[in-house]
Amino acid sequence: MSNMGPYSDLVMDHFMNPRNMGEIENASGVAEVGNPSCGDVMKLYLLINNDGIIEDAKFKTFGCGAAIASSSMATELLKGARVEDALKLTNQAIVDALGGLPPAKIHCSVMAEEAVEEALKDYFVKAGKDASVVDEMKAQIKKDH
Ligand code: FES
Repeated sequence: MSNMGPYSDLVMDHFMNPRNMGEIENASGVAEVGNPSCGDVMKLYLLINNDGIIEDAKFKTFGCGAAIASSSMATELLKGARVEDALKLTNQAIVDALGGLPPAKIHCSVMAEEAVEEALKDYFVKAGKDASVVDEMKAQIKKDH
């Protein structure tokens, strides 16, 4: 595919052929997050097994091409990851995996990072824990870096 303007081939590919679009019935964790600056919305579904491994991830994003590409890449990176490692998926990591985004579109990848955090909070709450464990894990990851 030829490169279109400021977007990498990988971004275009994930935008034109999004991976893992859809919903997961009986998901272990679900989140819906919005981007207040543009009104775009992303919904994320995670299926997590008893070993704490994300077996499946699906998304539905009502948003711009960069948001759809970020959602698609995020779900690809989440599948097979441990819950702790999923929290290391920063928006920058998603942007890097996509081969970069134009500066004005970096904010579009932030929804994906927030959606992972919120979906994992939902997962822990469903397991009878407090949502703050996610904040603590995230703080620990930031400290280690
Ligand atoms: S313009 Fe809304 S997420 Fe990209």
